[in-house]
Amino acid sequence: VFEIEQLKKIPKVELHVHIEGTLEPDLLLKLAERNGVSLPYNDLESVREVFRFQDLQGFLNVYYSASKCLQKEQDFYDLTLAYLRKCKEENIVYTEIFFDPQTHIARGIALEEVMAGIFAARSEAEARFGVRSQVIPCFERDRPVGDSLPLLKTMERIGGIVGIGLDSAERDNPPSIFNETFAYARSIGLHCVAHAGEEGPPEYIAEALDILAVERIDHGVRAMESTALMQRLQVEQTPLTVCPFSNVALGVFEDLACHNVGKLLEAGLKVTINSDDPAYFGGYLTANIVDTWNALGLSLEQVIQVQRNAIDATFIDAAEKYRMH
Ligand code: ADE
Ligand code: ZN
Repeated sequence: VFEIEQLKKIPKVELHVHIEGTLEPDLLLKLAERNGVSLPYNDLESVREVFRFQDLQGFLNVYYSASKCLQKEQDFYDLTLAYLRKCKEENIVYTEIFFDPQTHIARGIALEEVMAGIFAARSEAEARFGVRSQVIPCFERDRPVGDSLPLLKTMERIGGIVGIGLDSAERDNPPSIFNETFAYARSIGLHCVAHAGEEGPPEYIAEALDILAVERIDHGVRAMESTALMQRLQVEQTPLTVCPFSNVALGVFEDLACHNVGKLLEAGLKVTINSDDPAYFGGYLTANIVDTWNALGLSLEQVIQVQRNAIDATFIDAAEKYRMH
């Protein structure tokens, strides 16, 4: 049986975490008050009531609504620094952080403020805690696809991002329609990832690989439904950023004991473990590993394996990866 303190000691990498999903109830309530935002819940008890989800859409409704409390550069700074402080505590030495620009822009927040807050916290955390990070904005696939390329060009002008991603409601929103935006991102040297095979079918994973040319698949757990795809992922060693607590919280698997991550590992896929939205799904990276490993009876070697996989799957240069191994 693994324990949190034991696995905290292993240096770790996280590749799938949405900064808005690290908004803990106490900071949420504090920001609501600071910014005069009224929420349908105003104490920790009722927050916990609301943080119970049926599926991805049910979660997204709460997540986007809570994000309304993030308004000023300082809010994004506080949010990001709190997550990076948590990384220090858990010995997460490097993390690639997602954010959702469109949900903030749609509320009239300047993208420059959002990014300035996140970037300032990054520098601070690197200097103070030695935790390194890079930043990946995600396009929300349930918003008009035509908004994505102009937004990418704005972010190109602001600078500082390492890649782009694709997230939000997956069902009936296939990756392929974002083809032009992802092609442009690649042409300017950005890395590409996409959420696929979380709630959506295995075909969306193949589409993300073939049409968007993504380098990692976020989630990807529904790959198991296709033998051909499993074979391809094994041969190509495409990293999957698997998020066990998220999958259980959103009903993708009934409980951790039913999760397929052990089978994905046994099949030789390049699996990594991540927290997705830790404030909403019951815990950070270390807890995800501990509880999943205990539920499935996985080994310490497999902990090391997923961490080695995560180092290989990062968007840092080869010499740096070598040093991390
Ligand atoms: N945005 C935040 N978390 C997400 C998830 N698990 N899937 C899709 N979009 C998200
Ligand atoms: Zn996600």
